[in-house]
Amino acid sequence: MSTVTTASATREHRVTLRSLASRKRKGVPFTVLTAYDFTFARLFDEAGIDVLLVGDSLGNVVQGHDTTLPVTLDDVVYHTRLVARGVPRVVDDVVEVGPEDAVRSAIRLVKDGGAQAVKLEGGVDIAESIRRIVSAQVPVMGHVGLTPQSVHPMGGYRVQGRGDEGRARVIADALAVEAAGAFAVVLEGIPQDLGKEISERLEIPTIGIGAGVHCDAQVLVMHDLLGLNDATPTFVKQYASLGSETSKAARAYIDEVVNRKFPAEAHVYR
Ligand code: KIV
Repeated sequence: MSTVTTASATREHRVTLRSLASRKRKGVPFTVLTAYDFTFARLFDEAGIDVLLVGDSLGNVVQGHDTTLPVTLDDVVYHTRLVARGVPRVVDDVVEVGPEDAVRSAIRLVKDGGAQAVKLEGGVDIAESIRRIVSAQVPVMGHVGLTPQSVHPMGGYRVQGRGDEGRARVIADALAVEAAGAFAVVLEGIPQDLGKEISERLEIPTIGIGAGVHCDAQVLVMHDLLGLNDATPTFVKQYASLGSETSKAARAYIDEVVNRKFPAEAHVYR
């Protein structure tokens, strides 16, 4: 499960589930970014990002695992607290399986973490969990197509929804998520024309990552956006090169320290 935050006190208009739905009706895409700590949450919020997602991608980009599978509920609660301190609105990834575990996890992410909503991966198979969480008054974001928590059954990180059968499966999953009461659904790693068809068929907003330009919103992992990752899959656009900038800064610091140029006059107390 991931958590979601929306709307900051500094924003002119509060971001709410209602305002996100209205953006879809008006055809104005909204933006979602992952965040895992206070500083980046604040910066993204000030920049105007609509929704922050504490994704279990934290397993890859923060913890250094190959998959998201080792991420625990405690990990997501911890990072949600950090993000919610910067922005009072977060969506969390639910990492538990089974409806009862999922409801318990969702409530904990809201009460202990400060999330405003949770995200669940899966479609038809987890519709009952979505229904129960929504009944417990916790808004749910769905996630269908390429679902990283199912990396092993999927046989790796593969584009989903290709061929008639694959296409029908992703459509059925998206419809099941909507029918179960989700307020939005992430479409990950599917062909653009399928992203378009699902976005047209659903009333709830679709949030694309590797699902093309016709989705009602887009989401990226912050490390991809900022160029902090070496690998850049096709669906990623790097909007900055903070990886190389960071290395450059560290090298300059080393150079100045070993050559006694830092600290200089401006950095010492008298
Ligand atoms: O875990 C995550 O960050 C996600 C987004 C990429 C959608 O699921």
